[in-house]
Amino acid sequence: MTALMAFDFADAYGDLNPDDGDYRFYAELAAEIRATRILDLGCGTGTLTRLLASQGCSAVGVDPDPEMLRVAMQKSKGEQVDWRLGFSDRADTASADFAVMSGHVAQVFRHDDAWAAALHDLHRALIPNGTLAFESRNPTARAWEQWNRQATLRTLDTKEGRVEFWHETAWVSLPLVAYDTFTRNLDTHDEKVDRDVLAFRDPTSLVRSLEATGFTALNQYGDWRRTPLTPESPEIVIVARRA
Ligand SMILES: C[S@@+](CC[C@H](N)C(=O)[O-])C[C@H]1O[C@@H](n2cnc3c(N)ncnc32)[C@H](O)[C@@H]1O
Repeated sequence: MTALMAFDFADAYGDLNPDDGDYRFYAELAAEIRATRILDLGCGTGTLTRLLASQGCSAVGVDPDPEMLRVAMQKSKGEQVDWRLGFSDRADTASADFAVMSGHVAQVFRHDDAWAAALHDLHRALIPNGTLAFESRNPTARAWEQWNRQATLRTLDTKEGRVEFWHETAWVSLPLVAYDTFTRNLDTHDEKVDRDVLAFRDPTSLVRSLEATGFTALNQYGDWRRTPLTPESPEIVIVARRA
C-alpha cells in the first residue's frame, strides 16, 4: 500500500456516509427544545450544521480537519454558519443552547482526559439548562466484528476515477478499537490505507463522565428512532442537560 493517492476524501464523505436517521433525530430534537443557537462539534462537511441552520438557528461548526471544513464551506452557499477550524476550545463561552456531536465524534476522544476536556468545553459553551446530544456505538453490539472488506465495500465514481473503499478492524483492546480504511482507485490502481482508533465507552462510563462535568443525562436511546437502550442496541444516543 502507498499513502500517495491523490483523492478528495472530504468531497466523497457525504456519499460514503448517508443519513442513517441521525441527522433527522438531532434536527427534531433541536425543534422540540426550541434551540436557537447551535454548536456542532466535529461538524465535518457540515450536513447537520446546514440542516440546523436551515431551521432558523444560528450555528457554529467546529472541526480540526481543514479539508472537511473546506467542503463544508463550499456547500454553505450563504447559509448562516460560522465555520471554525480547530478543537472544542474554539467554542465561545455561553454561546449555545444546543450542542451536538454527530457521526460518532464522541468516539474520536480515545483517552479519557481528552474526552473530559471536550465535555468541559461543551459545558462552558452551553448556557444553563442547555442541551447536549451525541451518540457512541454500543460496545456490547461489537460493530467492529463487521468491519471487513466483504461487509463494508463501497464503490464510488469520483472526480479522480472509480474508487473502492472498505474498512478492516486492525486490533481490539477495549475500550479502544483500531481500524484501517482502504482506498483503491480502480482506474489508476493507486491504493492508500489510513488507521484510526476509536473509543467504545459503555453507557455507565459515558453517564459518569457527563455527571463529572456538570451534565445530567436525561435520555439514553439505543438508536436514532428513540428505541430504549439494551445490550443489543447498536448505538448509545444520549441527551443531557447542562446544570
Ligand atoms: C465521522 S466525522 C463526523 C462529521 C459530522 N459530525 C457528521 O455527522 O457527518 C468525524 C469528525 O470528527 C472530527 N474530529 C476529529 N478529531 C476531533 C476532535 N478532537 N475534536 C473535534 N472534532 C474532531 C473529524 O475531523 C471529522 O470531521
